[in-house]
Amino acid sequence: MTEKLWVFDTTLRDGEQVPGCQLDTREKIIVAQALEALGVDVLEAGFPVSSPGDFKSVQEISKAVSNPTICALSRAVEKDIEVAADSLRFAKKGRIHTGIGVSGYHIQHKLRSTPEAVLERAVKAVTFAKNLVDEVEFYAEDAGRADKDYLAKIIEAVIKAGAKVVNIPDTTGYCLPVQYGALIRFLKENVSNIDQAIIATHCHNDLGLATANTLSGVENGARQVEVTMNGIGERAGNTSLEEVVMAIKCHSEIPVHTDIVTKKIYETSRIISKLMNMPIQPNKAIVGKNAFAHSSGIHQDGVLKFRENYEIIDPKDVGVEESSIVLTARSGRAALKHHLNLLGFPVEGEKLNEIYERFLELADTKRDIGRKELLSLIGEQMDHSLLVEIQDISYQGAEGKEANAEVTLEMGDKVLTGSSKGNGPVDAVIKSIKQLIEHKVILDEFLIQAMTKGSDDVCKVHMRIMHEGKPYYGFASETDIVLASARAFVDALNKLPIKATN
Ligand code: KIV
Ligand code: ZN
Repeated sequence: MTEKLWVFDTTLRDGEQVPGCQLDTREKIIVAQALEALGVDVLEAGFPVSSPGDFKSVQEISKAVSNPTICALSRAVEKDIEVAADSLRFAKKGRIHTGIGVSGYHIQHKLRSTPEAVLERAVKAVTFAKNLVDEVEFYAEDAGRADKDYLAKIIEAVIKAGAKVVNIPDTTGYCLPVQYGALIRFLKENVSNIDQAIIATHCHNDLGLATANTLSGVENGARQVEVTMNGIGERAGNTSLEEVVMAIKCHSEIPVHTDIVTKKIYETSRIISKLMNMPIQPNKAIVGKNAFAHSSGIHQDGVLKFRENYEIIDPKDVGVEESSIVLTARSGRAALKHHLNLLGFPVEGEKLNEIYERFLELADTKRDIGRKELLSLIGEQMDHSLLVEIQDISYQGAEGKEANAEVTLEMGDKVLTGSSKGNGPVDAVIKSIKQLIEHKVILDEFLIQAMTKGSDDVCKVHMRIMHEGKPYYGFASETDIVLASARAFVDALNKLPIKATN
């Protein structure tokens, strides 16, 4: 068994410092619960002395979450530490994260102090905090630009004072991976009591090196990584949780493991992006929209022959249903054939060539070719369109009680209305839709997730339907749970060939 690598998530502290990302207590609890389900070991919930709201959030998260250690940040100031300890009163296991700037810049130009006085403050802060909580972690702010002998001295002193974790932040994202790794190694080799503490990495992404630096730190002996979901954080962000966790999973030569439930990565990423109003760049590693999308003909052909030709991660491992083969003007016949197959139109040889020629003409004028465009391409040959669209839905009754629903669907050039009873409006609506479609489908998996709480709830519905032994997935998010369910069902239906009954 490899050694455990502790995952310390600071999405709700360093991540939440980003302008426009602020969450209220209720939203922070949703994020904290998602991070707990993801399996983080330590959850940095806030900086309690900074505002009454932050204090309350740390306190409420301490009550709402039980598995991870709850951590509160403080400066090396007694008042901060007292407030942090107070906010952690309800935590099953609480940790104070206290520290001070240790680089020449910080000592001279921020603290306007001396190395000796800073060391004394660091030791005093750890000694004071140790009596108030289960664990104390010390951060040596701007360690990446500090004098390494001085850094070793201060780390030795705070461990002696009781720090169980020593955090070596590259606060300004300045280090190169080889330098950051060497710094961790230096501390391992030159701090006499280092075996009494865990070394933590805490990297910022100003040069786009946060993940590389973190991994270099781990390879050189760090056993805690401080990360945020989607890499959000000050300026260019912090090390991204998903990148480090998946790099470690992919590379067995790094002799550590994490307890992250990787299948929950995608879902957690989306919850946080949505609540924090922080869109994810499409090419973001692991969680970007394009992370498992293939658009060039050569890659598409390769992936369709053998997924691992162009993918090092199975998308299912991070909770993404499947890789996507995006149809663009760069796509080849293999991709087109694949999509036509998925629509239930297996085409080969000359016929495929013919459709492909017209596909290329269309793709040159459109960015993406979706199902609608494909159907119209085939329509020229097959003379019908199969897209299902909801025109109208009405229902009466509450969940758990008998309900009636009426649904009008547009399918190609037909408009059809179906109605049904059900044990609740969702059931009645789904039954009404089923009446209007020809093929037999079984609703196999139905997941509703509340994205926010309150009168403006948004719920996300994920559905899996089975048709002729094959699964098809549908998604929708709406404020109305019945409408979201109907849309998710129709989204799944639109991925299989459907014909109207009359
Ligand atoms: O980047 C940093 O140095 C920090 C510390 C407060 C841990 O976020
Ligand atoms: Zn930071």
